[in-house]
Amino acid sequence: MKIERLLTLLSDGQFHSGEEIGCILNVSRAAIWKQIKKLESMGVEYESVKGKGYRIKGGMELLSLEKIKDGLNKKVLAKLNTIEIVNTIDSTNSYIKQKYMSSPAQGYLCMAECQSAGKGRLGRKWISPFGANLYLSIGWQFDGGVVAMEGLSLAVGVSLVTALEKAGILGVKLKWPNDIVFDEKKLGGVLIEIEGDVSGPCLAVIGVGINIVMPRNKVSEIDQEWVDLGQISQKEVSRNKIATLFVAALVNLLENYQSCSFKDYKLAWEALDAYRGRDVMLTQGNRTVVGVAEGVDDTGALCVKTGDGVRSFSGGEVSLRRLL
Ligand code: ATP
Ligand code: BTN
Repeated sequence: MKIERLLTLLSDGQFHSGEEIGCILNVSRAAIWKQIKKLESMGVEYESVKGKGYRIKGGMELLSLEKIKDGLNKKVLAKLNTIEIVNTIDSTNSYIKQKYMSSPAQGYLCMAECQSAGKGRLGRKWISPFGANLYLSIGWQFDGGVVAMEGLSLAVGVSLVTALEKAGILGVKLKWPNDIVFDEKKLGGVLIEIEGDVSGPCLAVIGVGINIVMPRNKVSEIDQEWVDLGQISQKEVSRNKIATLFVAALVNLLENYQSCSFKDYKLAWEALDAYRGRDVMLTQGNRTVVGVAEGVDDTGALCVKTGDGVRSFSGGEVSLRRLL
């Protein structure tokens, strides 16, 4: 694809003249313009300077299958039946679900440079600009239905924070049930969708989105406080390194989760709980409950101390907000 070759060329951050681009892509001047316009529609920020050409200021680290595979150990690689990197896709979660229609999709991993219809919980949108953050999904078969997956999105959160710590990124916390936060701002999220028999063998599609360096032209689309790893870390953050650490963490967790349960992750989750002891409000449809967040139970349900005693809430349709 021409656009991939153009991106690879410009990813070095240097200026490339129209002539050079035309030569490498084997296209006319008019066709170069079309490709450049495509970059724009993908949300890639580039510079165009008369007499110098085009560049992506600061360069861009594209995802590399080779680098990611090189960083994974044999045990992890053996558990993955496919690792795929795609440029643009509607949603990596939807893609894995589609794959499941034609084959079991166990251990199918997909990462995308960009999502045109990235999904959050409850039908919300996940802003997914090109080449900036990380969007990945993995399909994993669970034999015991949804019961075997109880608390999984919380356990995934714990494993991702541990992976970030390995990259030297400290202070990241979790907000029940699926948010990865820093300084109470949203850094990432986990979206688990289930396909198949919810009481028997089924496929969990585990989707993870994490902001690495959010392009400034995209920030207005996020309607809550957010943060990216670039703002948190003192050092430059490698997308391929974070992808590798996340894949290893997810495979190791998923492999073990069948034989253990959320109970084994409860203490670790509570140590990362961003809202513990805080006044909170829970919303479920048009019902709201106010109380103090008191951690989670052995299934991962949130415990809230209310006027009527401690009540527990399971993920589903529940939204949690802190009261200021
Ligand atoms: P809850 O699920 O408890 O209601 P939430 O408001 O974070 O929490 P989610 O469905 O978990 O909702 O996440 C989707 C929301 O996250 C979007 O509505 C938007 O506000 C925000 N968002 C979307 N894209 C990004 C992004 N790349 N980085 C940070 N936040 C984002
Ligand atoms: C949330 O906070 O609500 C969850 C966000 C999950 C976003 C990821 S990005 C990769 C995968 N594909 C999607 O469409 N969503 C998840």
